[in-house]
Amino acid sequence: MSAFGAGLAIWLLGAGMCHSAAVLNVLCGVDEAWCAAMQAAYEQQSGRKIDMMRKSTGEILDEIRAGRGDPVVDVWWGGTGDTHLQAAAEGLLAPYTPDNAADLLPWARNFHSLSGGQSIGVYAGALGFAYNQDLLAARGLPAPTCWNDLTNPAYRGLIQIANPSSSGTAFTALATLIQLFGEDEAFAYLGRLDRNIAEYTKSGAAPVKAAARGETLIGISFIHDAVTQKQAGSPLVIVAPCEGTGYEIGAVSLVRGARHLEEAQRFVAFALSPEGQATGAAAGQNQVPANARAALPLAAPDISLIRMVDYDFATFGSPDQRSRLLRRFANEIRLIN
Ligand code: G6P
Repeated sequence: MSAFGAGLAIWLLGAGMCHSAAVLNVLCGVDEAWCAAMQAAYEQQSGRKIDMMRKSTGEILDEIRAGRGDPVVDVWWGGTGDTHLQAAAEGLLAPYTPDNAADLLPWARNFHSLSGGQSIGVYAGALGFAYNQDLLAARGLPAPTCWNDLTNPAYRGLIQIANPSSSGTAFTALATLIQLFGEDEAFAYLGRLDRNIAEYTKSGAAPVKAAARGETLIGISFIHDAVTQKQAGSPLVIVAPCEGTGYEIGAVSLVRGARHLEEAQRFVAFALSPEGQATGAAAGQNQVPANARAALPLAAPDISLIRMVDYDFATFGSPDQRSRLLRRFANEIRLIN
């Protein structure tokens, strides 16, 4: 073989290897327990292995941006919908309409339309906070019931929330406060709250998990994540804040240019089927499923009873708004590395 032929063979082998990502690659934005349950259920149903890794929503967006044009990731399953919409607006996702679209609840279908057919609602859940009642009693502190209570200096160093750059939960909190109070007042509020924050965590559920373990007094997270901790026996009191709150539509999207497009579509179809949706409850999760034929987890919070903002997904799903708000947070509240 000529030197050119040998070089070509090596190049082809190399190209083949780097594209050989032989199995479907899924980035998972829900709790690790649900990622694992979903992987096992899908592999059993399809008879094929897949790769799945848990990351926070902002990290997934960054990874999918980095793979633009030659993606390694095929499917982005879970995580807050605002960020999926931002990816759709940046041209990073592929259109897909599931065969069972008619079985999805109206909010999941509306979300699909809003994304230009590029992302589908999988679950929904409201934002709130939870406190450890043993710690509260031991310290003789007042019980918080409102967002505004959380700025009480009595809670200095006793609250955790995630970092809005990495966490979709914390970005939902930022967007929620803006929708409740107006942008300038929301930033003034976040400045007061910052004095009480012990740690900005990477993932959104970490604050209520820390409160459940008694490592912090109050965690700001999705209410369904607090319910999961409480079901496991932790002494949490869960609060839907008195001023009202926001919510997420957790979503699933196909990555534009996915190497395993057909299997990616099969995975998304499974995630939206009653069987796929049931993996959440089986893994102890408490979101509201998008498929009307899927059973509501028994302990899922009744979001119709929670005072909710009319969440503006179009505004907060825009990439320009997200980067502007994250810059403002870094400049005015805290720069987190
Ligand atoms: C938890 C919740 C999900 C949410 C996700 C966002 O896993 O159960 O409902 O979508 O957090 O994660 P992040 O780490 O980006 O806040």
